[in-house]
Amino acid sequence: MDTVQRVVLGITGGIAAYKAPQLIRLLGKSGVAVKAVLTPSARSLVGEETLRVVSCNPVYTDALPASFDMAHIELAKWGQLLLVCPATANTIAKLAHGIADNLLTTLALSFEHRIVIAPAMNTAMWNGAGVQANIGVLASRGAIVLPVDEGELACGDLGPGRLLPVETIAEYALAALAPRVLAGKKVLISSGPTVEAIDAVRVISNRSSGKMGAMLARAALLAGADVCVVSGPAAFPLPGGCRVIPVRSAADMKAALDKEFAACDICIMAAAVSDFRPAAVLEGKKHRSDSSAWSLDLVANPDVLEGLGRAKTRQVLVGFSLDSGASEAAAAAKMKKKNCDMMIANAVESAMETDATAATIICKDKPAEHIATSDKRKLAEVIVRRIARIPEHSHE
Ligand code: CTP
Repeated sequence: MDTVQRVVLGITGGIAAYKAPQLIRLLGKSGVAVKAVLTPSARSLVGEETLRVVSCNPVYTDALPASFDMAHIELAKWGQLLLVCPATANTIAKLAHGIADNLLTTLALSFEHRIVIAPAMNTAMWNGAGVQANIGVLASRGAIVLPVDEGELACGDLGPGRLLPVETIAEYALAALAPRVLAGKKVLISSGPTVEAIDAVRVISNRSSGKMGAMLARAALLAGADVCVVSGPAAFPLPGGCRVIPVRSAADMKAALDKEFAACDICIMAAAVSDFRPAAVLEGKKHRSDSSAWSLDLVANPDVLEGLGRAKTRQVLVGFSLDSGASEAAAAAKMKKKNCDMMIANAVESAMETDATAATIICKDKPAEHIATSDKRKLAEVIVRRIARIPEHSHE
């Protein structure tokens, strides 16, 4: 059972403090509980009542009553991550030098887990030697100092110094919180549909959106893996941070995967590979005036996963089985035939072009695990955690 993750959000006195409620909302949507701490200068920039309502928690400031005397220790014990956002040059300097003159900087001194710092300031300050030296000190102590964005700043200047988009900061925070169950592993994922040309205009493809592959890439990245995605032309975007090899046909996909496979530790075949392709690709465009009817001769594409199953040495190999009604027996038969370690069965009716799907995870020598309908992001996280559990000795 998953437990709620806990972030202490330290808000300092930069104008970007007004974005804090949105960040709390985003983290909350990902199942993260947040307690906000305001420095004295941040208090006039963002409403305490707003923060209290969006976080569903009390808001901590230096003006706490005496009964909160130990708030810095209590918060340091509660949080699994301290996210300082926005972090001003002043707070960055205090953190780098161990100064504890308010609740946030005091709590930072007693914080034993990861600290993520999202700076925001004027370009000249950001580029200044003092700030850069302080950032170097913090990074050398293991704090994760995020980059800044470029663009128009609150003071009207143009240049680096803007706070990163809150969506990106939330992703960094989640990555820093996630158990790094795949740290040091190379994960190869195939994703999206493949496309087979009929003539210069027309193609045969399928309804795969690539969302499952993208969510698996995201979950593997959060788990600390080095991720490479071989992707057909998918509608759903892949997360930043993975290496992408774009392909079109099943033959392209096979060539890319065969090349990358030897170097990977885990391969997840989430692509919807076209099983058939036209026996010949017509040159140019076939015109309607050419004939009143048209039949296509199709030939079978190679089974990419089966080929990888034969080439497998130490790799963990995971396939997806798409069938009407998510048949467990069909998935188990495909797992054996393709020499996979795990197969995820889902039903055609609920898996294509959807946000949520039910699935059954099938592993060698284990009872099948039924996952109730959940969004693909959550399903991908479960799959990645189950893959991480496959013991080394089951690899061939
Ligand atoms: N697969 C593949 N190459 C193909 C077809 C499928 O690598 N030419 C992979 C898919 O990516 C998936 C697994 O094999 O991981 C099972 O695919 P699925 O479509 O469920 O089954 P098929 O093997 O195509 O068999 P069938 O169409 O008879 O159900």
